[in-house]
Order: sequence, then C-alpha cells, then structure tokens
Amino acid sequence: MSAGTILTVSGLTKSFGDGEAETLVLKGIDLQLAEGEMAALLGPSGSGKSTLLSILGTLMRASGGSHEMLGTDLMQASEAERTEFRSKYLGFVFQFHHLLPDLSAIENVMMPAAAAAGRETAPMRSKAGELLDAMGLAERRDFRPAAMSGGQRQRVAVARALINDPVLVLADEPTGNLDRQTADEVMALIRSINDSLSSSFLISTHDAHIAAQCPRRIELLDGRIVHA
Ligand SMILES: Nc1ncnc2c1ncn2[C@@H]1O[C@H](COP(=O)(O)OP(=O)(O)OP(=O)(O)O)[C@@H](O)[C@H]1O
Ligand SMILES: [Mg+2]
Repeated sequence: MSAGTILTVSGLTKSFGDGEAETLVLKGIDLQLAEGEMAALLGPSGSGKSTLLSILGTLMRASGGSHEMLGTDLMQASEAERTEFRSKYLGFVFQFHHLLPDLSAIENVMMPAAAAAGRETAPMRSKAGELLDAMGLAERRDFRPAAMSGGQRQRVAVARALINDPVLVLADEPTGNLDRQTADEVMALIRSINDSLSSSFLISTHDAHIAAQCPRRIELLDGRIVHA
C-alpha cells in the first residue's frame, strides 16, 4: 500500500444467482483510491458501476477477491463491523436524492450524524448549516425537499453525505436526473468541496462531459476495468 492509499481492492468478483442462473457481474476488479482523490466511474449501462459502488460502500458483499479500506479487511469483517465502518468513514449520494420529505434541508443534512450519535446536538446543526452554505443553500436551510428544485435537492444530498466527515463519498449518478447546466453546477460544488476537504469522491456517470470534470477517470466495461 503506497502512502495516502485509502482503499485497495484486488481480484474483486461479484456474481448473482446460483448454479445455472449464476451470472458473474464483476470479473476481477483491481483498484486503489488515494486520499482526497476525485474519480469518475464510467461505463455503459450494465457494466457494473452500481454493483461496484455498493460493494465499496459495504452495502453489499463481494463474492471473491480482497477488499481493504483504512487497514480494515472488509471481506472478513462482520455485518456489525461493516455497518459501523460505513457510518464512520463513508458517505453516499444517489441518483434520486432520498431526502426525507418531512424534514427541512438542515434536518436532512444532520440526520446521519444524529442517527450515529442517537441525538441532535448544537455543533451538528452548525456544521450542517456550514455545509449548506458551502453548497450555496444558505437561504434554503428551512425548506422541505418539495419546496426545492432538483439541483437544490441534490446539493442537500451532497451536504448530507459530508456531515460525518467521510473518508470516501460514493456517488451513483448524482447528476443523472438533472439537466446539463444544473448538473455542471452540482459538479462544480462537488469539486470545490473536494478541494477544501480531504474526502475522496468516486462518482459514477454515463456522461463523458461529467466525467471530464473529474481529475481521474476509471472505465468499466462488462465487469472489468479497462482504464484506471
Ligand atoms: N441484484 C441483482 N441480481 C441479479 N443481477 C443483478 C443484480 N444487480 C445487478 N445485476 C446485474 O449486474 C449487471 C451490472 O448492473 P449494475 O447495476 O451494476 O450496472 P450499472 O453499470 O450501474 O448500469 P446503469 O448504468 O444502467 O446504472 C447487470 O447486468 C445487472 O442486470
Ligand atoms: Mg447503475
């Protein structure tokens, strides 16, 4: 492991189904991510992007190979250890924002921190406010998701992903539901957050224009990395 490496997977495989119905979806992935890195994960529909992000996010287990992050062997770890690891070190952004409709923007952003601590605290609220400010949403703190635009909701979702100071944010087509201009604005904010924090980002996309905004591009094709 070289200095600054946060994540190493090698020979990682994932299959779904048993026996004759078994399909191998990830066919031996070798990948390292560095601290503070921002990488796009590109590939056609069905190439395995979401599957890989789910595995790296400990939402799903690999079938084979090795998966290590921050010195923890996530293949050997128990479910309880993986859950704790996830809430400490990982953040998530999905294509659809998954904000809770009855909570305001700031309450949504605080949610992962409040859930981890079992209660809300004043420092959490002030940090959530700072993250919303950084995402250009200072005026929208008390708005519910229904009263915000798609781009604003996605920016709240990015702020929420950052509340626990994750080492790595996994974003599965975070701009897939947005028009080009709004997508560019969200990407610009992610880039500026990435410059100012040490969190790494791995962002899946179909869109070469979005990928071009990331310093590193990792390309999947039919369950294999063809460019990293
Ligand atoms: N739970 C599952 N059971 C069976 N097959 C699955 C499951 N999840 C994914 N697959 C299969 O794995 C392959 C990769 O799917 P995945 O969702 O990772 O692709 P993707 O690159 O994210 O595609 P898209 O760009 O359309 O989101 C597909 O062939 C899919 O049908
Ligand atoms: Mg996908």
